[in-house]
Amino acid sequence: MQQVVLKHTLSEKPKAEDFDLVQMPAPTCPEGGVLVQVKYISLDPYVGHLLHKGHMGQTAPEPARGLIPGAVVGEVIESRSDKAGAGDHVHSMDGGWVEVVALTDSQFTVVDTDSVPLSAYAGVLGMPGLTAWAGVTQLARVTDGDVFLVDAAAGPVGGTAGQIARQCGAKTVIGIAGGTEKCRLVEKVYGFDACLDYREAGWREQLGIHAPDGITVHYENVGADMLAFALSHMQPYARVILCGLAAHYHDPEPARILIGPIIGKRASVHGLVVYDFYDRWQAFRDAVAPWVTSGRITICEDRSQGLGEAPALMQKLVNGRNVGKCVVAL
Ligand SMILES: NC(=O)c1ccc[n+]([C@@H]2O[C@H](COP(=O)([O-])OP(=O)(O)OC[C@H]3O[C@@H](n4cnc5c(N)ncnc54)[C@H](OP(=O)(O)O)[C@@H]3O)[C@@H](O)[C@H]2O)c1
Repeated sequence: MQQVVLKHTLSEKPKAEDFDLVQMPAPTCPEGGVLVQVKYISLDPYVGHLLHKGHMGQTAPEPARGLIPGAVVGEVIESRSDKAGAGDHVHSMDGGWVEVVALTDSQFTVVDTDSVPLSAYAGVLGMPGLTAWAGVTQLARVTDGDVFLVDAAAGPVGGTAGQIARQCGAKTVIGIAGGTEKCRLVEKVYGFDACLDYREAGWREQLGIHAPDGITVHYENVGADMLAFALSHMQPYARVILCGLAAHYHDPEPARILIGPIIGKRASVHGLVVYDFYDRWQAFRDAVAPWVTSGRITICEDRSQGLGEAPALMQKLVNGRNVGKCVVAL
């Protein structure tokens, strides 16, 4: 069985040459669990962070043998579980960069592939989608008339958040993203009202044109500078979701934000950790899957083929050069 491992301990963000593709013994099916042939691996920004700094109590995998963590979707090839049988499709947050994983019952959910493609469970119906849904519907409680702003808007969290906000009644949905290709995707495919390209001069002034009365909800995926910009365009009593720090994950210093503008805008600030919503997979999928099936929510994939391509795709992701959801097809 093939597995990707780290060659050595990392002191900075990962590069493709920091990894090796090696042969490992295949796992056996656990009592009360399943053996899964991995079909898609989800690459997510927290993994890049974890590999050199650790992440929320998890340490980096051991070089040469440790499993690179990651969400996976795949097909059950052997079962000793009542929850799923051979041929069923499952999603797990406890997979990794490997061809076959052994999972206990608490480590997977069975997924329906009749109406959506299996890879959707890596993105819009997987952890990034749950993160977007949780922030928009459970924390910010977006409703009719909201003016919604989100950055990293071409990615699976930002792109899904904006589309869910629209389904919840937001009257205006605005994205921020880096580059023409990403902004075109956000406007033309995800259907946002506008996407501001922060690589273009004068992009800040564009927000006032699209949201002349200010924004009521901001969903932050990137970091301190973007948050300061969003705060300066908020209506009083706006809601802010602090979801991600993509611009800071590989910085030596922690990100800092100014408290004054939050007080001045009387803003409600919600930190979001998706783990808190892992008991709501079903409610989330029941709500969002019909929108995916009907085409009201879509997400673009930045897809690579083959386990050996995972390191190069991760290098692209940690440098913000991905366009859409990073997924490795096996
Ligand atoms: N709180 C939680 O529980 C939770 C759960 C899942 C994800 N997240 C966070 O949500 C955010 C979005 O996740 P995602 O999976 O949808 O990622 P993504 O949008 O596919 O990728 C991250 C994006 O961040 C932007 N970015 C800005 N500055 C960057 C920099 N210096 N380095 C790298 N990227 C940079 C890039 O987009 P542009 O070029 O458009 O700026 C990049 O494409 C991330 O911060 C992630 O960590 C949080």
